[in-house]
Amino acid sequence: MQKNKFFVPETELAEQNEYKKKVKNIVKSRFQQETPKAFVHTYGCQGNVADSEHIKGQLIEMGYSMTEELQSADIIIYNTCAIREHAEDRVFGNVGALKTLKKKNPNLVIGLCGCMMQQDHIAEKIKNSYPYVNLVFGTHALHKLPELLFKVFKTKKRVFSIEECDGVIAEGMPNERDSGENAWLPIMYGCDNFCSYCVVPYVRGRERSREADVVLKEAEALIKEGYKKITLLGQNVNSYGKSLENGINFSELVRRLDKIEGDYTFDFMTSHPKDCTKELIDVLASSEHFCGHLHLPVQSGNNRVLKEMNRKYTREHYLDLVNYAKEKIPQVDITTDIIVGFPGETYEEFLDTVSLVKEVKYGSMFTFIYSKRKGTKAADFPDEITKEEKTKWFMELLKVQEEITKEQ
Ligand code: SAH
Ligand code: SF4
Ligand code: F3S
Repeated sequence: MQKNKFFVPETELAEQNEYKKKVKNIVKSRFQQETPKAFVHTYGCQGNVADSEHIKGQLIEMGYSMTEELQSADIIIYNTCAIREHAEDRVFGNVGALKTLKKKNPNLVIGLCGCMMQQDHIAEKIKNSYPYVNLVFGTHALHKLPELLFKVFKTKKRVFSIEECDGVIAEGMPNERDSGENAWLPIMYGCDNFCSYCVVPYVRGRERSREADVVLKEAEALIKEGYKKITLLGQNVNSYGKSLENGINFSELVRRLDKIEGDYTFDFMTSHPKDCTKELIDVLASSEHFCGHLHLPVQSGNNRVLKEMNRKYTREHYLDLVNYAKEKIPQVDITTDIIVGFPGETYEEFLDTVSLVKEVKYGSMFTFIYSKRKGTKAADFPDEITKEEKTKWFMELLKVQEEITKEQ
């Protein structure tokens, strides 16, 4: 099964298990009878939440128990998000606030990981301006947490692990789930789409899929354990399977998932309109367990803007998909993401988004003002509309959506 070039070899995972034991011993001698506490906070998307569940699982195996109380933690890990400037600012603010905690407790271990840390300029900033941060690791080093923590304890030096690589898949990591009856189930990682505004392909590596039988076995176990909702995760679930030898496609994966018996529903995100097929909608329409929610981010309703965004679909293609879904699944709840104020977008072009929103009548909408991301293509596009103006458009769109929600 380990033919896939992205898989972390079993020998490497076994090595990490040895580090887990070593850390457990260090922690035991440090804390004696007490169980040390770990605080893990997650910013960003469900993919990050799923990663944090692995972080928590590993920490528990190394002798920690989880706490919701920052003040009482012996180790604090922030799993960060880089999608918009606002997300990054929040992280910097919260990391700044840890300084006083560290002063009170010099043995406190502070770790930062996730998408923000995968960017060189951010890791550099942490290195230079936040000397009390002990550990920084990127998105491809998640499974190496035991080794990294061991280094922190053993060397008493700051540890940075930001690897440039296409990405990995580490199967078999422990998982501490804490989303109640919902279980997040990643089916793929990374993204190859390079939408011109988006940082994800740079911080999450190349698109890669988990083996279908591994995913389906995990789903079966979760359903047996009593989880009522399984959400399949990936940046573009519709291109599931492409990195696998003899892989099945997403529609087939969903068809097989739906065959698992039990009292549950399934959801998935995110579905990219360029790859979302009518075949998939047909499969959903005839599935017993589909929850009825279809998240289909449109980003813009204007074809010129969509082209500049490198989304690779048109307004007409999108509306055709939506209408097909509504026809085949009458109760479907369609939701979306929208970016307002993409560089070069005019008010008239923005109004095309407004008219699309009125036409589709979304169940709900996640609307964002464009945020310039270092290293992306759109960062070099001229952007003349002021933040104030963009905020006005944003408010206008929210109002339209409010009206629609009221009518529903
Ligand atoms: N893979 C998903 C999106 C993941 S990011 C997809 O293609 O649909 C979640 C949302 O954040 C995006 O849909 C987009 O609306 C928003 N987003 C991404 N980059 C952004 C940026 N630079 N500024 C503002 N919003 C952004
Ligand atoms: Fe970003 Fe586009 Fe990939 Fe979504 S599909 S993660 S918006 S690059
Ligand atoms: Fe943020 Fe990374 Fe997710 S940038 S939205 S946490 S993939």
